[in-house]
Amino acid sequence: MSMNIAIDGPAGAGKSTIAKRVAKEMGYIYVDTGAMYRSLALYFIRLGIDKDDEARISEAVKDADVTIKYVNGEQQVLLNDENVTGLIRTEEVGNMASASSVYSSVRSKLLDLQRNLAASNDVIMDGRDIGTCVLPNAQVKVFLTASVDTRADRRYKELVEKGENPDLDKIKKDIEERDYRDSHRENAPLRQADDATLVDSSNMSIEEVVDAIINLCKDKM
Ligand code: DC
Repeated sequence: MSMNIAIDGPAGAGKSTIAKRVAKEMGYIYVDTGAMYRSLALYFIRLGIDKDDEARISEAVKDADVTIKYVNGEQQVLLNDENVTGLIRTEEVGNMASASSVYSSVRSKLLDLQRNLAASNDVIMDGRDIGTCVLPNAQVKVFLTASVDTRADRRYKELVEKGENPDLDKIKKDIEERDYRDSHRENAPLRQADDATLVDSSNMSIEEVVDAIINLCKDKM
């Protein structure tokens, strides 16, 4: 049976940084489910669909095919065979992903892809509903969080390093809105699974969080 590690948590908690490192150390595949939702969001944006137009989104999603492949160990997302990995990291796409992922038509589109990957590989998968919905039987479940201020600060520094001139208050507001929407939606909301371990990374280094998760895995092997 394959080993499955589920990492859920709010935007900006450091899930992907941590999951990539754990994957490398354990020799697992890292599956970024947010990237899948983002690629569908890009599809809706390109079609000019409003985020609140559930009918059009549910119709459009039928023609959107999302697959993933790995190049040098890095996940690449393909949208109708186009590699969109480099196009999905914008705030616009992130906000559309948060808004469109509330619809069951969008969520069910990705569920099989996520479950099939976990059934045939040792994976560490991150998202919002992995421990609660996608992989309820994952051997290790972590709910990774950090305070809103910490997450906003991290995002601010990332953007400054990229040469941008971000507005900290705006980042904080976006994070709060995204947290609210992701955790209050009807379908597979962001929530800590009953059997998940809570890790608050506000005052932890990346290494400390990685070590904590690897120790949880060792206990289960
Ligand atoms: O992790 P991220 O910021 O790339 O995710 C973008 C959005 O996609 C997030 O705000 C909500 C949605 N998402 C989801 O609903 N379920 C997941 N498993 C992963 C992401």
